Amino acid sequence: MTRSKRTLMIALAVCTGAGAAIALAQQAPDDGPRYEDGTSLVRPDDYREWTFLSSGLGMTYEDETTDGDSSELSQSFTNVFVNPSSYRGFMETGVWPDGTTFVLEFRQSASEASINRAGRFQTDLVMLEAEVKDPRFPDGWAFYDFGRAGELADSAAPLTGERVAPCIECHTLHTAVERTFVQFYPTALEAAREHGTLKPGF
Ligand code: HEC
Repeated sequence: MTRSKRTLMIALAVCTGAGAAIALAQQAPDDGPRYEDGTSLVRPDDYREWTFLSSGLGMTYEDETTDGDSSELSQSFTNVFVNPSSYRGFMETGVWPDGTTFVLEFRQSASEASINRAGRFQTDLVMLEAEVKDPRFPDGWAFYDFGRAGELADSAAPLTGERVAPCIECHTLHTAVERTFVQFYPTALEAAREHGTLKPGF
């Protein structure tokens, strides 16, 4: 093959590749949300194979009234997972792509079992919530509640009215990037810093 012919073929291959990549970016990701009846989110049964963002232990929030009880949630862990392709997108741009799906898992904790003496480890699932970035929803985000362990819903309609109001309020006023608590996810926080996508004040 002549040199110019080869250069032309390489150029063509690069262009087709770029075209395909752009087309892909505009589609919903394969590992993103699966809906039933248009907007009800099917509970992703493989979210434990997604990208793990971080855990919180016994986190309470400034708007909440804490009565100092030892309720189930005060010693529970929260684990946050995101679909892997959206995580990769965020690491490259500092912005969550459309179709980004988060799962928030609450788990009980325990101490002093097996060889453990101090500190706490995670045990049973308590409940599952989710959040999806989708331009069809008000402000581009939908919030979901799959309920409590043992009676988890297979799919959930987006929360509306009074049920979604606190989610939207807290996830708007206190979040570092868009509607998400990137300030608590160390690797995503680094990417947001690098790309300058943190909200003012973070
Ligand atoms: C008072 C504040 C507050 C309210 C109200 C709230 N959240 Fe959150 N949410 C948080 C914080 C803080 C995190 C960070 C993760 C953690 O707690 O470990 C979070 C994380 C999440 C995440 C992981 C992705 C992200 O945005 O960072 C999901 C999903 C989520 N919340 C769903 C919900 C849903 C659904 C509701 C309403 C039913 C809700 N949240 C209400 C504070 C709140």
